[in-house]
Amino acid sequence: MIPNHYAARLSSLDRLIVQSVPPGGNWKAIPESIPSQRLKQIRISYAAGQGSRSTYYGRLHPNAPAYTINTYFTRPGNGCHIHYDERQHRTLSQREAARLQSFPDKFVFYGSKSNINKQIGNAVPPLVAYQIARIFPFKGQFVDLFSGAGGLSQGFLWAGWSPIIANDIEESFLATYRANIHESVIVGDIRDKSVFNIIIEKCKEARLLKPDIPLFVIGGPPCQGFSTAGNRRSMCDDRNWLFSQYKAMIEELMPDGFVFENVPGLMNMDGGRVFKMIYDELRPTVKHLITWKLQAEMYGVPQRRTRVILIGDLSGTIKNEPPIPVTQLSKQSKLCGNLHPAITVKEALSDLPPLEPEEDGSNKQYLHEPEHPYQAFMRSMIPADKYLKELAKSKNVDS
Ligand SMILES: C[S@@+](CC[C@H](N)C(=O)[O-])C[C@H]1O[C@@H](n2cnc3c(N)ncnc32)[C@H](O)[C@@H]1O
Repeated sequence: MIPNHYAARLSSLDRLIVQSVPPGGNWKAIPESIPSQRLKQIRISYAAGQGSRSTYYGRLHPNAPAYTINTYFTRPGNGCHIHYDERQHRTLSQREAARLQSFPDKFVFYGSKSNINKQIGNAVPPLVAYQIARIFPFKGQFVDLFSGAGGLSQGFLWAGWSPIIANDIEESFLATYRANIHESVIVGDIRDKSVFNIIIEKCKEARLLKPDIPLFVIGGPPCQGFSTAGNRRSMCDDRNWLFSQYKAMIEELMPDGFVFENVPGLMNMDGGRVFKMIYDELRPTVKHLITWKLQAEMYGVPQRRTRVILIGDLSGTIKNEPPIPVTQLSKQSKLCGNLHPAITVKEALSDLPPLEPEEDGSNKQYLHEPEHPYQAFMRSMIPADKYLKELAKSKNVDS
């Protein structure tokens, strides 16, 4: 009934810890009498002024959006991942994390428990992707590189775009992709020539078949460990090969455009030099290269998550106008004026049945009818555009 509504096991120590954290609270609420080495270390580094660690052992606040969902959302000590309801002493279930990422409940994740956590935590929220796809003045066809489970693709599908092929190195990620997005996938390392060539072939075929439909490359290479070594020759560095492959794909395919997505840390890596190098490498391949920093909480997603988006425009038809925000945190209200408040964790999750740690609630029923348009959207009772229109109708009149 509610696929992947599975809560992870917690050690007896973690259960004890989790019980002492109130909604909106963090490690500071945990009594010192609880014998935890990790907590001891957190207290020491906090006292030494090495950062506030304010999300560690955090319990979500029901009336605020979640913090960024990462791949460790089942571990209480690695962020703010404890369920907002103080009667439930556990971390987020996979379905709850997927909802906070704006994956609809009918999107089923496949693979081992830890693989599923990675697919959810790594994804671009489909609702953000949808609002990006909608700004283009056409509905194109796309290849999704580094596709993962397909968060980016799901948004483009909602916007009426057509998938051609997806590539990822992880088989189980593509099992999820095949089941939910499209069956044409190629498993393998993009640096492998045969994988690279299959993608090129498939795209060229699609272009021949539908020459009037613009072709886009979406997705972005992971840039951890990216090296600039201060010069352009470092593009030959092994660590930069994923990016080099990406660029080679753009040069070979000459698509009408691309959507390159990455973590915001990319802008600061190596004092900004990594981003500058990526920008300088991609710039000659396009007519316009547009950079946006988008915050998911401003696009109807119940989560604070920022992503850098580079839009490459080879056709010269794309305007540098990011999607218009629809929601905002109260502290952002001066920025955008009269918008609906950011969607909260409780608004996103309150219809999902309670769980114990290590319980699989996939066969349970929803607790009640949707209490918020976000729940109706997640349950596929209304489509994405209707949900966004609902938010626009009920703006925050007090701001
Ligand atoms: C940040 S995730 C992508 C998330 C995806 N865009 C989404 O919205 O769901 C990056 C992906 O790159 C894949 N990847 C890493 N190295 C790769 C390689 N050499 N070839 C192909 N895929 C790779 C990873 O398995 C991972 O799924």
